[in-house]
Amino acid sequence: MSRLPRGPQGRLLTTYKFLTRPTEFLFRCAATYGDVFNVPMYNGDIVIAGSPASVQDVMTAPPDTFVPYATKAIAPLLGQHSLLLLSGERHKRERKLLTPPFHGDRMRAYAAAMADVAARRFAEAARVDRAVAQEITQAISLDVIIRAVFGVEEPPRTSAFARAVVAMTDALSPALTFLPFLQRELGGLGPYARFRRRVDHLEALFREQIERARAAPGDDILSLLVSARYDDGSSMSDQAIFDELRTLLFAGHETTALALAWALDHTHRHPAVLARLRDEIDALGPEPDPERLAALPYLDAVCKEALRLHPIVTEVPRMAARPFRLGEHTLPPGRGVAPCILLVHHDPELYPEPSRFRPERFLSRKHSPFEYLPFGGGNRRCIGAAFAMFEMKIVLGVALSAWEFRLLDERPPRPVRRNLTLGPAGGVPVALRARGRGALRAAA
Ligand code: HEM
Repeated sequence: MSRLPRGPQGRLLTTYKFLTRPTEFLFRCAATYGDVFNVPMYNGDIVIAGSPASVQDVMTAPPDTFVPYATKAIAPLLGQHSLLLLSGERHKRERKLLTPPFHGDRMRAYAAAMADVAARRFAEAARVDRAVAQEITQAISLDVIIRAVFGVEEPPRTSAFARAVVAMTDALSPALTFLPFLQRELGGLGPYARFRRRVDHLEALFREQIERARAAPGDDILSLLVSARYDDGSSMSDQAIFDELRTLLFAGHETTALALAWALDHTHRHPAVLARLRDEIDALGPEPDPERLAALPYLDAVCKEALRLHPIVTEVPRMAARPFRLGEHTLPPGRGVAPCILLVHHDPELYPEPSRFRPERFLSRKHSPFEYLPFGGGNRRCIGAAFAMFEMKIVLGVALSAWEFRLLDERPPRPVRRNLTLGPAGGVPVALRARGRGALRAAA
């Protein structure tokens, strides 16, 4: 049995660096210790697996090898019944319940709504001189996920939910996740108390909605959960429904919004990419059919490359439930292990000139699930992956078809931590104006 891999020392310092400069920290560790290294962290020491082979070891291990990592830190934030924290049979069962609404025909049924919401939000943003791409895309992805969760569109109610979800997400500061000792209410003061108040507000809105779904179920996700039965015939508790729904709202909107903000930034810093993309989109005519947008190969490559270069989640941790063999190392039970999306996505063997934005690379080569994994993998792979890609392509397609964007910040943004996610610093400030197709064509 070999020792644990080498790595940096000092729990407080490594946690601080991971919190404040995650990408620099991971790149620096890989340069110093190689692509598998150990990091002492407040949430539990963790081995980072940064090569396709080590990612494969983790993703192909039998599911009961691992349990969720840092449950103590995450449970107060997302709820103990959150899919992210379940394991074993219950995890499998709830995934089976929650996955179908985000795939196939049920996913495609959202195409027109995604395009409509995007068209409306970009038009609103064009009324001001300075908009922030991330705020526009967040408003879009939130509208979309709220519709998926609640089915019908009821503007006053959806906007109350949207406000409550944004308030909760904004209050979820990275420090609360990475330094769990900060999760104290301190007589109603401080960041954790603020977060709890916002959760309580969201929960109150949910309770009303749960009652409505019980009285008149529709074909939305809330109704699905309300009518779901465990093997013994019992139904999900209100608390379990609430935890699952807020996980979907949390996991399903900011991620997509950040990815879209990056995609808008990258495409506008690479004129050749933008021109090729516009040609592809314009060939579908004005107001392109959203499902046809989602089938465009270069648009697909652009979205994939944005998620490769700046993964929204940089690593996907699990905790060993029993001794786990990782290459030449054996990890003891209780040790965290995290396939590192960021490091694999920057492997120059797989992605030549890895820091360059080059969507073409996805047209000429297929990557295995251990080489390209913006949505994680194995039995915990993101259940919203297909939905998110579908939405990204439709929203970006609608945006570029109808609007011209000017980036207001000359310097490319650096990735900064939101909470479990990373996004572009400053959110990508932009100015928009309607495209004059004729004029642009003539100028080209
Ligand atoms: C670009 C957008 C998105 C990105 C980059 C993303 C990324 C991820 C990643 C990296 C994981 C962890 C996977 C692992 O541990 O191996 C995950 C899990 C998850 N995601 Fe997403 N996600 C996105 C959109 C969505 C959407 C739209 C939904 C809504 C359905 C969603 C719901 C979830 C859920 C429920 C999990 C937990 C799965 C489990 O533990 O079994 N995500 N996502």
